[in-house]
Amino acid sequence: MKSLVTGAAGFIGSHLVEKLLGAGHDVVGIDCFLDNYPRHFKEHNLANFERHPKFRFVNEDLTKTDLKALLLDVGYVFHLAGQPGVRSSWGSEFSRYTENNLSATQLLLEAAKDLKLEKFVYASTSSVYGDTADLPMREDGLTRPVSPYGATKLAAEHLCHLYSQAYGVPTVALRFFTVYGPRQRPDMFFHIFMRALLAGAAVPLYDDGEQTRDFTFCSDIVDGLYNAAHYPRHGEVFNLGGGSQVSLLTAIAMAEKIAGVKANLQRFDRQRGDVRHTSARLDLARDKLNYHPRVGLEEGLKQEWQWLKSIS
Ligand code: NAD
Ligand code: UGA
Repeated sequence: MKSLVTGAAGFIGSHLVEKLLGAGHDVVGIDCFLDNYPRHFKEHNLANFERHPKFRFVNEDLTKTDLKALLLDVGYVFHLAGQPGVRSSWGSEFSRYTENNLSATQLLLEAAKDLKLEKFVYASTSSVYGDTADLPMREDGLTRPVSPYGATKLAAEHLCHLYSQAYGVPTVALRFFTVYGPRQRPDMFFHIFMRALLAGAAVPLYDDGEQTRDFTFCSDIVDGLYNAAHYPRHGEVFNLGGGSQVSLLTAIAMAEKIAGVKANLQRFDRQRGDVRHTSARLDLARDKLNYHPRVGLEEGLKQEWQWLKSIS
């Protein structure tokens, strides 16, 4: 079976490609090395499988390439390409978000609408919920993003639903909750934090540290993506969380213990676009996708720490 992974050189996409190759899929990966963070991280990710006989890499921008040709013989589409990051999505940066999150998704759905795909899995986000007192966040709960990023991801999620209704494109959208682990993006907290520990540098701490996240380890997300591809229905949305809601200060204490170093925290105000709390209700994903997050925060942080030390 042939799969297309968009964003294949990215953090989550590269882990997914490895899982699919391991399961015997032929994989086409597309990525344009967007400059949201330094290219060498993405080249490193890709180096893990780019010579695999069942892998083909396409170095193109989804908004500028022949998507029909890309989708030829493809059974499963995993659409992970996008411009991530909540705090950086304001102002003049916004056009990057509309282009890579919204336009790219619309073009891919258009190209997919006349094909007989097995599944089109879209990487959505917990950022679609925004701030809510209704925790844990439910798939049928209110969606009111607090970042422009979240607004573009929600709009693209709506497009997936529209194309499933109007053209039968077999879409499933998965709302990932703050993903971490080896290859995590360098603009995300644990990466920034651990790199600062290694360098003996100060760590910027936004807000009071009592904000919480349902941190999710990358291999659990990849398992969820894989299971969603085999889900028999379409047009639905599922949360993929890590299974526990942890404050940033608790996670920091855990990481300090793993590293054996105390962090030098430098406090800043809460940033525009940041949600105060996230927590995923997982009943639907458990029941319908057989999704069971397996990697706890301490184990996951140990793996990210080992990885960061190995590349530093
Ligand atoms: P990432 O930046 O590491 O990976 C995304 C990849 O997509 C990048 O390598 C980038 O070059 C590529 N890309 C972007 N626009 C493209 C385009 N127009 N054409 C071709 N390639 C393009 O990010 P990630 O953290 O791996 O996130 C992957 C997906 O998961 C994103 O859609 C993101 O919104 C979503 N997500 C991530 C998290 C998280 O915590 N990391 C949480 C929720 C949702
Ligand atoms: C992450 C991803 O970056 C988004 O792409 C994704 O869509 C989102 O998860 C999601 O789950 O929807 P975020 O939760 O902000 O967003 O993840 P981090 O960047 O790792 O931030 C976690 C916490 O650390 C936030 O409260 C943030 O304010 C804080 N932080 C971040 C700091 O205190 N200092 C920093 O330097 C960076």
